[in-house]
Amino acid sequence: MRLDKYLADMSIGTRNEVKEYIRKGRVKVNGLPIKKADYKTKEGDVISFDDQQVNYLQYEYYLLNKPAGYLSATEDRYDPTVMELIKSKRKDLFPVGRLDKDTEGLLLICNDGELNHQLLSPKSHVYKKYYVEVDKPLPENAKEILEKPLDLGDFITQGGIYEAIDDHHAYLSIAEGKFHQVKRMFEKLDTKVIYLQRIEFGPLKLEDLPLGSYRPLTKEEISSLKS
Ligand code: URA
Repeated sequence: MRLDKYLADMSIGTRNEVKEYIRKGRVKVNGLPIKKADYKTKEGDVISFDDQQVNYLQYEYYLLNKPAGYLSATEDRYDPTVMELIKSKRKDLFPVGRLDKDTEGLLLICNDGELNHQLLSPKSHVYKKYYVEVDKPLPENAKEILEKPLDLGDFITQGGIYEAIDDHHAYLSIAEGKFHQVKRMFEKLDTKVIYLQRIEFGPLKLEDLPLGSYRPLTKEEISSLKS
């Protein structure tokens, strides 16, 4: 990897800023100033900026509390995307799966393609838990209906785990993630979802992270996601 990319990836500055730092001799490789931005770093090189060692982190993982109004995409011509909320300079970050534009809550953002693939595979059975508010009172048999396979027209759900809160609010956990799945499941109860928030994604929990904020995953969270 080029020296300027190495430093920019580690948020030392923009690509142009780090080129300038390199030119000025503020960057050393194995203790010696290297003034070429295209220097190819090698395994085992010790890189420093202003004599502070800069280690390369290959992967970054963040848990975002997505606000309504943001698209779960890396770019869009019309709407703001969740990537605009992440301050990292890494260009290769992306959201793992999607939440609808009006859905809030837990969204994993990372640059680990293999983990993304693993988590989204239909075989992975990662449970996602949602807090749901509906427009009309929930029927008494809501649990019975949502926990059994349900025909949504284009596919049949495996059935989720339903927990009633009161007559307009509930939690629903599902291991699948078809388009508008939660909203469509509640339509089967003759209700319309008026607020949807994802509060858990496998081992990850949203807890009290403020809306629009994000935090890095802990080492424990990363290893439990991978297992
Ligand atoms: N189900 C939905 O209907 N919408 C979401 O954003 C997530 C799950």
